[in-house]
Parts: sequence; structure tokens; C-alpha cells
Amino acid sequence: MKNKVLVTGGCGYIGSHTVVELIDNNFEVVIIDDLSNSNKKTIDNIEQITGVKPTFCECDLKDINHVRNILKYNKDIKATIHFAAYKAVGESVEKPLLYYQNNLISLINILTTQLERGNTNFIFSSSATVYGNPKTLPITENNETQRPFSPYGNTKKMAEEILEDLSKAHKKTNIISLRYFNPIGAHQSGLIGELPNGIPNNLMPYITQTAVGLRDKLSVYGNDYPTKDGTPIRDYIHVVDLAKAHVKALKRQLDNEQDKNFEIFNLGTGNGYSVMEVIKTFEEVSKMKLNFEIVQRRDGDVPKLFANANLAEEKLNWKAESDLKEMIASAWKWEQKVRT
Ligand code: WQD
Repeated sequence: MKNKVLVTGGCGYIGSHTVVELIDNNFEVVIIDDLSNSNKKTIDNIEQITGVKPTFCECDLKDINHVRNILKYNKDIKATIHFAAYKAVGESVEKPLLYYQNNLISLINILTTQLERGNTNFIFSSSATVYGNPKTLPITENNETQRPFSPYGNTKKMAEEILEDLSKAHKKTNIISLRYFNPIGAHQSGLIGELPNGIPNNLMPYITQTAVGLRDKLSVYGNDYPTKDGTPIRDYIHVVDLAKAHVKALKRQLDNEQDKNFEIFNLGTGNGYSVMEVIKTFEEVSKMKLNFEIVQRRDGDVPKLFANANLAEEKLNWKAESDLKEMIASAWKWEQKVRT
């Protein structure tokens, strides 16, 4: 018998890559997604990659009765991996209530319905944004968290606080929060990847969209930061490496190996690269010149953010494998494939 796992947001960028890894590791997957920032065709592409079609339920998690109904037909779910959330930083600044309502009500509803059914294994998709502007680097899980700049980031911090309270009130729950650094790249098949709605907020899709001619030029937000070349440093991590970490976290839960019932892990490579290094590496990989210009800093950007991911290595037996070139090559392959 395969273990059945519920994946919310399973048609999205990180969700779809995780579904592939789950199927490859012999899990049965049920996806709930409202398709607000994803496409149903992803299900077919997952089937093409894995040979297995996951169960798909189109559902807005804010509708708790709909969620209850889905779970009625999936009584044997062993764990939930919760990706479903809005994630556009800029939009969240303009529409904070939309973000608090969607991201927090969805979380509360999925937790409520799972607790009702006695399903107490839960993995949460969190973000390094909860560290704000860190005082020390590399960032360990013991670094203090700060109020994130954006409402989007704050929903991640508030969600972790909700999960921590829940873990104290319900000792039988097993919760793992995974704090992602900067996920980029796409599956090697070129069949799934990142497809942002409208103008991308994030660096990698902006670069690849510029290179295919969808955008005129990349704006580099500031080159006067206290870093080696003046542009901010981030810890870019391949989305497939990230997906694999979810499978490891899930196995830890199902094997009852958690040291405490609420655990947090950083998911990064431990290497920091500047915006200019990313551009240079893209130019090398694509053999193209990228059109870019230096403009003013963007509100809320911090100079340096990179992980110490030793805890994940020790406890999850997981380590990121791809280097920057591989990540960028996969993102570029995806962008070219998706536009043809
Ligand atoms: C990286 C660097 C920009 C775009 C955000 C969220 C985080 C997470 C990932 C998302 C920065 C620079 C970017 C551009 C640029 N979650 N940049 N021109 O800001 O580190 O993290 O995305 O779902 O929670 O906060 O990532 O890719 O936006 O930026 O110069 O057009 O690239 O200034 O230094 P960030 P990013």
C-alpha cells in the first residue's frame, strides 16, 4: 500500500516539482489547487514525467466545506504538504487584506479539517523572508526572526506562529516548517517550471523573459550595497533539490523521527551569489548578452541572505546538489520550451 499525501498548491511552481518527487518515491498524491496562479495542464505534464496521474481536486481552501468534502473521500491521507498561497511581494504591499485572508484562512482551514480527521503530519512551505535583515551570516535556524517587510512575508511568519501554537496545544501533531531561500530552475524534462502571472517579481524569470524578448530589459535594483560588486547576494537553490527535501521531511514524519513536534529547517545551498554573478552566469550558459540597466534600490531588499543548511543535512540527510550553472541552464531550457 502506498502512503497517500495531500499536496495543496500542487499545480504551482514548487508544488508540482514536489509532486513529481513524491510519485517517484512511491507516494500516492492528491492535489488540491484553485488554479489561481497555475494551470491544470501541469497534471498532464506530471503524468508525462512520472507515468502516474495524481488525483486533482480544484478547490479554494478558503471554502472549508469543500475541503471537508474532498477529505471525506480521502480518509487515508497520512500527511499534508501545504504550498497553496499567494506569493507576489509587490502585490501584497498593495493588497494586504487579500494576502492575509487567502494565506491565513487557507492555512487555518486545512489545519482544522486535517485535525478533525486525525491527520497530524503537516509540512509547511515557509521562507527565509522571516529572518528579515539578518544580523549574522550564514543564517541558522536559531537566527532571530523579524517582522518581514511585506504582508506576503508576514503571512509566512504569522503562519509559523500559528503552527507553533498548534504544536503546543496538540502534542500529537508533527509539524515541519521549511524555510526556502531563493528557489530557481526547472525540471530537467522541461515540462514543468515557473510561470509567473504577468510581470515577474523575481530575478530569474525576469532574466529569462528578457532573454526570450518578452521584456525589454532587466532592471538591476541598485549596485551600491555593501557587497563585493555592490549588488545584493542571495542563496539560489534548484527547485528540484528543494522538492527532494520535502520528501525527506515527509519520511522523517512518517517514520516518527522528529526530535520535537515542531521543527524548522533552512533549505538553501549555503552559497551566496550577487545579482551581477547571476547575470554573468546566465550569459555564459545562454551564450547571449543580457540587456540590463542599473536602477534605484527596491524597497525591502536586504544586502545579503544566505543559509547555513547544516541542520537539514544532519536531520533530513539532505543536501542541495545543483550548482548555479545547472539551475540557470534548467530555467533557460524551460523558458525557451514554454515560449515555443
Ligand atoms: C533577488 C535579487 C533583487 C528582480 C523574494 C521573496 C522571498 C521568496 C523569493 C517568493 C534581489 C534583484 C530582482 C529584478 C533585480 N519568495 N532583482 N531585478 O527578493 O530575494 O525574495 O522571492 O515567493 O520571500 O521576498 O528574490 O528574485 O525578487 O530578488 O535586480 O527585476 O534580485 O533586488 O537582490 P528576493 P528576487
